[in-house]
Amino acid sequence: MFNIILFGPPGSGKGTQSEKLIATYGLKHLSTGDLLRSEIAARTPLGLEAKNIMDRGELVPDEVVVGMISSALDANPQAKGFLFDGFPRTEAQSEALDKLLRLKNTEIGVVLALDVSEEELVKRLLNRGLTSGRSDDTNESVIRARITEYKKKTTVVADYYQQFDKVVIVAGEGTVEEIFSALCSEIDKRLS
Ligand code: AP5
Repeated sequence: MFNIILFGPPGSGKGTQSEKLIATYGLKHLSTGDLLRSEIAARTPLGLEAKNIMDRGELVPDEVVVGMISSALDANPQAKGFLFDGFPRTEAQSEALDKLLRLKNTEIGVVLALDVSEEELVKRLLNRGLTSGRSDDTNESVIRARITEYKKKTTVVADYYQQFDKVVIVAGEGTVEEIFSALCSEIDKRLS
């Protein structure tokens, strides 16, 4: 089993690249943002609580997202590997993920960190907000709050995996194909 964390700030291209990577490597895509948006669409109590937090650009509590990931891991016993997108986002989530993977006799193979400038992130997300229907994309102050939350709470995730020498920084500006090819070459190095 080979497991990947696709890491990076809001708008860095995690979702875009995840779609291509899962198709190429046959991994199961686990995006906590997508899981939370499904809860919102289904109007579950968890979704209603999460929506207010997400609309402010803040992080949903660790125990909520760790619970969702734990269920998703259990629901996919045949997976060849997992691609984590938007998770983990705090040190506590990183530790919880490592523990869950250990219980399944596996671990994170690599953390691919997309590097994109803040102005490019804001430009991409405002642009997506014109059509996506995502309420957290329509307002520049919420987009900036998401980036601030990332800097305050999520950059430590890279430090956490750096201690195990698992982090690779990949340039996240350029065409989607150029970035995809750089990500594939890092994965292929580790698979061979
Ligand atoms: P989440 O859904 O994870 O969103 P995010 O991290 O803010 O990331 P995005 O989906 O906005 O961006 P992305 O990096 O996937 O980029 P994309 O490919 O879409 O989280 C949303 C919220 O849920 C959080 O704020 C939080 O409240 C909550 N949450 C989620 N996970 C959580 C967790 N673990 N713990 C706590 N709370 C959690 O691309 C963006 C745009 O750029 C697109 O329009 C795309 O077409 C375009 N684009 C992509 N690549 C390129 C390129 N190379 N050049 C030009 N444009 C490009």
